[in-house]
Amino acid sequence: MEFNYVIENRRSIRKFTSMDVDDKLLMELIRLATLAPSAHNRQPWRFMIVKSDKKKHIVTLMNDFYEKNKNSVSNTMPFTASVIDDCNALIVIFRDGLDSDRYLDTLSIGASIEHICLGATSLGLGSVWINDIDPVKEEIAKYLGYGNLEIVSVVAIGYPNQNPKARPRKDISEVVLK
Ligand SMILES: Cc1cc2nc3c(=O)[nH]c(=O)nc-3n(C[C@H](O)[C@H](O)[C@H](O)COP(=O)(O)O)c2cc1C
Repeated sequence: MEFNYVIENRRSIRKFTSMDVDDKLLMELIRLATLAPSAHNRQPWRFMIVKSDKKKHIVTLMNDFYEKNKNSVSNTMPFTASVIDDCNALIVIFRDGLDSDRYLDTLSIGASIEHICLGATSLGLGSVWINDIDPVKEEIAKYLGYGNLEIVSVVAIGYPNQNPKARPRKDISEVVLK
């Protein structure tokens, strides 16, 4: 797919078909993620593919947390949990090097996450970058066996079962400072 086409047609996808995404495609997304630039070339990202029961457990952690803390967390959390339930696979993105420059490393990891999302579009997959796991990210990291690392975000992946219109963007004149 042509580069601009991929950028212009990426959407956050929140409804997926039940079709399985081959692990080879998921590994290709991770390979693309590792081609992102990173501060001092530290490559602080670590990735894990999570499917089936483990993915379901993450949904349960999110829903349980929301039930107990409704007044203090984002009300989008249960919807996002349902998106995770619906998707075929999650790519969980961890930050390694907890003693390193957190700001720089988080910027670098953001670049790698966007490679995953653009890569998904180019492979005919749908994706959505998810941060609503934030309140339970330590619990998820421990559950996945990496309590020593910090989860930055997760990306839900699957074959799209919707074709959303582009979300509005600010006009260029609003974002270019003079
Ligand atoms: C850092 C970050 C966190 C996000 N977290 C969530 C989330 O938790 N749940 C969700 O449904 N979408 C999430 N999104 C997707 C945004 O809502 C979406 O990118 C935005 O509305 C623009 O739509 P588009 O991606 O289709 O262009 C997140 C996006 C980013 C970059």
